[in-house]
Amino acid sequence: MGPVSAIATIPGVEAKGAKIPLVGLGTWDLRGRACTRVVEQALRLGYRHVDTAEMYDNEREVGEGLHASGVKRNDVFVTTKIWPSHFAPRELERAARDCLVRLRLSEVDLLLLHWPNPQIPLAETLGALCKVKRDGLARHIGISNFTVALIEDALPVSSEPLVCDQVECHVFLDQSKIIAACREHGMAVIAYSPIARGTIRDDKVLARIGAAHKKTAVQICLRFLVQQNIVVIPRTSKLERLSENAAIFDFQLSDEEMAEIATLGSCHGRIVDWAYSGRMKWD
Ligand SMILES: NC(=O)c1ccc[n+]([C@@H]2O[C@H](COP(=O)([O-])OP(=O)(O)OC[C@H]3O[C@@H](n4cnc5c(N)ncnc54)[C@H](OP(=O)(O)O)[C@@H]3O)[C@@H](O)[C@H]2O)c1
Repeated sequence: MGPVSAIATIPGVEAKGAKIPLVGLGTWDLRGRACTRVVEQALRLGYRHVDTAEMYDNEREVGEGLHASGVKRNDVFVTTKIWPSHFAPRELERAARDCLVRLRLSEVDLLLLHWPNPQIPLAETLGALCKVKRDGLARHIGISNFTVALIEDALPVSSEPLVCDQVECHVFLDQSKIIAACREHGMAVIAYSPIARGTIRDDKVLARIGAAHKKTAVQICLRFLVQQNIVVIPRTSKLERLSENAAIFDFQLSDEEMAEIATLGSCHGRIVDWAYSGRMKWD
């Protein structure tokens, strides 16, 4: 099967020299052949951005999907993430090289620190991350799950640009402070769990607005984010949902609709457990 254009070209957002496609495929929890198949099919449909992590234990399968798709390496934006137990400088470099071996790539487009690790000085970890970039293993680097305060700590001790913060971000969670901080520093926001792990499907406001645009609640939820230049990385294991999740560039939400959707968000809407950060020992 050759590449098909079921999805019109997905636009990108620019941040500190990185051009990141506004829709990527999330791959957490996708495993084995099913993972390879979804990645391959997403790329054939027009996705040009794939998000994985060493912790997902699927980089090999993601790499197989990338290679099987036939899409040229330079046309795909590949992100992976280093787990905090590998934040000591030597460990980080080794972990980054291991990621590349599993993905069968000579460099990734974006390499992220997966979560903050208070047990290792941030300056040391960022020093190692910057070196990995300078050594050509990653085109761009960034952070994930960093609070506003941690962004402020990270920027002055990073000698290379940090292009993004990847954080939980969806209609049920108010992330306006992180978004404002990223904007102030020219960083992209990459929204993980952008459809709140599917829980938004039955929301009445999103369904009503969706009906007006002949779109699903999921598409409204994703459009709400990309219309603010926030990158989204929805995951699906179902091939038929790949197109749905990317077909969000042929309509526009009005200012009134954007404002109404914004009322759904609160500071209590988090899905992912932040016990990870701070209290956890990363080993
Ligand atoms: N940096 C971090 O710490 C971090 C943390 C979490 C996630 N992430 C990244 O972000 C990605 C996305 O987040 P996520 O996986 O947590 O959640 P998500 O993308 O918000 O939601 C995925 C869930 O939604 C369902 N779904 C997908 N498309 C749908 C559609 N069109 N209609 C109805 N249901 C749909 C999926 O089920 P089906 O498979 O049945 O379609 C799956 O159960 C991850 O895969 C990962 O790459 C990063």
